[in-house]
Amino acid sequence: MVRDLILKNRSYRRFYQEVAIEPETLRGLVDLARLSASAGNRQPLKYILSCDPEKNALIFSQLAWAAYLKDWPGPSEGERPSAYIIILGDTEVSQSFLCDHGIAAQSILLGATERGLGGCMIASVKVDELRKALSIPPRYEIMLVLALGKPKEKVVIESVGPDGDIKYWRDSESVHHVPKRSLDDIIIG
Ligand SMILES: Cc1cc2nc3c(=O)[nH]c(=O)nc-3n(C[C@H](O)[C@H](O)[C@H](O)COP(=O)(O)O)c2cc1C
Repeated sequence: MVRDLILKNRSYRRFYQEVAIEPETLRGLVDLARLSASAGNRQPLKYILSCDPEKNALIFSQLAWAAYLKDWPGPSEGERPSAYIIILGDTEVSQSFLCDHGIAAQSILLGATERGLGGCMIASVKVDELRKALSIPPRYEIMLVLALGKPKEKVVIESVGPDGDIKYWRDSESVHHVPKRSLDDIIIG
């Protein structure tokens, strides 16, 4: 079952923007992050939630999407995320966040998948602009933005070919293909 959930939990970048996500749903997802592992159990992560169209628009304009898809500037109006969770590192709790934010992000996205939603981790963020737009105090480091919504695209996993190219791509029907390395390639001993 965990494998099925992980298989379904792809990075989605096009959504049914009109399908709203309630604040309570976002709180439930952050609760999954709250219960996840944290280095030294320091729990330095804090979160900003957004499911309001105006706040969503402020966040959206600071994100970069799908760097390998050179001809695609990101989701167009109507296909944009209906919610975001911004993961922050509280420097008054810890100076290093190790991989806490990655673990939190995965917990949140698995929870979203279980709820019939989907999303994408976004690290390509104009952090200074986002900080300004949302008045995020300097004590919080912006670690990741999670875009969330009801997925509107098909994403398929395939094997990395003999040329070793790991770049994801879209076919003529807008199906998004994600090459994954084989088990034998990644288990080295
Ligand atoms: C730490 C991290 C940062 C990422 N940042 C971005 C990003 O800035 N923009 C984006 O479109 N996708 C981003 N992604 C999504 C990856 O491109 C995606 O995970 C990869 O293509 C594999 O697809 P999959 O998640 O469906 O397996 C990020 C993923 C991770 C784990």
